[in-house]
Amino acid sequence: MTISAFQKTILDWHKTNRRNMPWRETKDPYKILVSEVMLQQTQVARVIPKYQEFLKAFPTLHALAKAPDKKLLLVWQGLGYWERALALKETAKRIVKKYKGIFPKDTKVLETFPGIGPYTARAVACFAFGKKEAFMDTNIRRVYLHFFSPNRKNVPDKEILPIAQKAMDAILYPNSYDRRNHGISPREWHYALFDYGATVLKDKKINKRSKHYTKQSRFTGSFRSFRTKVMRFLLDQPRQTATKHKLEKLLKTSGSPYASEKIFASLEKDGLIKKKGASYSL
Ligand code: ADE
Repeated sequence: MTISAFQKTILDWHKTNRRNMPWRETKDPYKILVSEVMLQQTQVARVIPKYQEFLKAFPTLHALAKAPDKKLLLVWQGLGYWERALALKETAKRIVKKYKGIFPKDTKVLETFPGIGPYTARAVACFAFGKKEAFMDTNIRRVYLHFFSPNRKNVPDKEILPIAQKAMDAILYPNSYDRRNHGISPREWHYALFDYGATVLKDKKINKRSKHYTKQSRFTGSFRSFRTKVMRFLLDQPRQTATKHKLEKLLKTSGSPYASEKIFASLEKDGLIKKKGASYSL
């Protein structure tokens, strides 16, 4: 399929199928970063209320940089993958300290921050600053695999990213690939790709053909579900502290098949809990 025909398919469809999301109405890099970090492992419907709650609690980069961990984790509750919250705060602190609170625009700089990989760096740079570097998450990857690598297996991103970049360039410099100027921004082009991948191609098993395919593990009964048990329990305690004995009992009665020590160690390693004598606290 040609780039031009591909773009026509996606954009014609998007004219009547665009999804509204609160972070699609802002260019504030801080707000966009918050949304992208939340969206890394959590579905849009669950992110929307949390995004709004989070920004009410921490409306600016400076507010987040100064946030007490306890308040931060209380707000994060319900999103899971708790370490993302601490990484986000650490990023805010670094931007305030090292960059005088001025959000860096360079994807190479953004990638040096905790919790920000190649995808998140480029997504933020695109949505906040109009940067033209192509990127893909699972939804966008699905679109390129479907249109440009049909019937192939174990397809690495480095094979489809150049096609995505060509499509990006064709949007902006239509004469190099296509005489038609679609008249849309890098932002809208990526929204169209997300929406097409997440709705039209949703139920197809396309991403299994990606070299980078991983299935998100079931939450119920998983190791991280018992991490969450411990986190929620501590958040409920008067000083966010509980004895190790109490936590072990909690894990046992909730049916954890994992060694409690392993759960505590992993939370400690992520900086989510601290050991104090025979107790743990946030
Ligand atoms: N719109 C902006 N960012 C998005 C994302 N990560 N997933 C879906 N839609 C989005």
